[in-house]
Amino acid sequence: MTFKKNILCIGAGYVGGPTMAMIAYKCPQYKVTVVDINPSRIAEWNSDDLPIYEPGLDKIVKSTRDKNLFFTTEMERGIKEAEIIFVSVNTPVKTFGAGAGMAADLQYWEKTARQILKCSESSKIIVEKSTFPVRTAFAMERILSLSENNTHFDVLSNPEFLAEGTAIKDLEYPDRVLIGSRETPSGVRAKDELIEIYSHWVPKDRIITSNIWSSELSKLVANAFLAQRVSSINSFTAFCEKTEANITEVARAIGMDSRLGNKFLNSSVGWGGSCFKKDILNLVYLCRHYGLEEVADYWEGVVRINEYQMERFVLNMLNAMFNTLAGKKICLFGFAFKGNTGDTRESPAIFIAKKLIEEKAELVITDPEALNNAKIDLNGIDGKIMYIDDPYEASGGCDAIAVMTEWDIYISLDFEKIYRSMVKPAFIFDGRNILDHKRLFDIGFNVFPIGKTPFTHF
Ligand code: UDX
Ligand code: UDX
Repeated sequence: MTFKKNILCIGAGYVGGPTMAMIAYKCPQYKVTVVDINPSRIAEWNSDDLPIYEPGLDKIVKSTRDKNLFFTTEMERGIKEAEIIFVSVNTPVKTFGAGAGMAADLQYWEKTARQILKCSESSKIIVEKSTFPVRTAFAMERILSLSENNTHFDVLSNPEFLAEGTAIKDLEYPDRVLIGSRETPSGVRAKDELIEIYSHWVPKDRIITSNIWSSELSKLVANAFLAQRVSSINSFTAFCEKTEANITEVARAIGMDSRLGNKFLNSSVGWGGSCFKKDILNLVYLCRHYGLEEVADYWEGVVRINEYQMERFVLNMLNAMFNTLAGKKICLFGFAFKGNTGDTRESPAIFIAKKLIEEKAELVITDPEALNNAKIDLNGIDGKIMYIDDPYEASGGCDAIAVMTEWDIYISLDFEKIYRSMVKPAFIFDGRNILDHKRLFDIGFNVFPIGKTPFTHF
């Protein structure tokens, strides 16, 4: 079969994999190839056991793979053949040198740009999918303009707004697709070509365009606003715990104001994930670079409140359990940074687990999808940690349960059975406010929700 166009994606991660699978699924006339420098990741994409857990992903990968969706490590050939190249390599926070702990580490991105330049024999459209600090496209254009063989590159910014756990739904029915381009004739042509791909399934009025810098900045700002909303509601949980106010009632009341809306108001042990912290710290770094100290401090506060919220959770546990956790067995329900994903990057559970180990508690960790990642995250930590799939087995013999992840399966567990198997007095710290607290109290538990008066038997 001859295809209308060859699309390549560099980086087969949480963003590249699902996004390319959706394009292949919706556009059978395009050939979509995904390359990665990591051969075992590519092997997993080609196996029955995909490298990431995402509801609905399996179905679309299996219906397109080896028809118009291909996973390979052949980067050079992929680049040569492609007319459109999406770049979705990771952009972690720098761990060294200037801007360590804040600025984006752009080494993978630059290597990728140079590789595109080296292997290209014809002109191409380069699409930035990864979240980059503002003006990265400009640097990419500069590298690509070093071309010696008359090839021309148009760089577009097309940030991905999918959230993990709902990636397939977000890709299929996006709130909006944003494309940033130059206003040059070839920039406009490149933009139109990308619009054509998305038009196969996204209504035209949801595909919006802007200049490249607005597009890059919008992604950082979107994540900063989302994280700020959770930090804002979480900041009032401490207040509610000191008074008789109840954070769920407050969230409901403010969420019904149509100017505010009711999403992203679930108070929690803290927000996590690969993007929020990294993107806000990038913004903070850029603000300081431009001398905007007040703006930098404002957004840094969003990250600080999140750290405070995680610390507070552990201090509440310590306080409730008679000021010592040494030798006590604590079961963590969930380790993923949110429900419906096996991803644990920046998960609050990592922070909490480490603090509990510092308090000399013993940990039993359970999670339906994230135990392998949990083992990697806590590898080398000096403490007693067990990993058990079954939540009943995991909580047996424990002094306390701490809910870290909002997995639905935890809501319908048989808590009478769990209570019987635990050490008394038995405690539940619900870091996601998903359980029926009054019922748990009636069973015999001492229950500590977030942002509400605890239910205790003493
Ligand atoms: C996401 C987003 O794409 C990005 O915006 C954000 O900055 C970080 O998170 P994600 O897909 O979740 O990236 O990252 P990851 O799952 O780590 O995937 C990146 C992939 O790129 C990896 O499989 C890695 O092996 C690959 N890669 C990295 C390359 O193929 N080449 C490189 O040079 C570097
Ligand atoms: C986020 C953005 O939502 C997405 O648009 C962007 O492309 C990447 O970053 P993601 O990190 O996958 O997506 O998850 P998200 O659903 O935003 O949740 C982030 C964190 O906030 C999770 O730890 C989640 O549990 C927490 N959260 C979210 C809350 O604690 N309360 C809420 O009400 C909502």
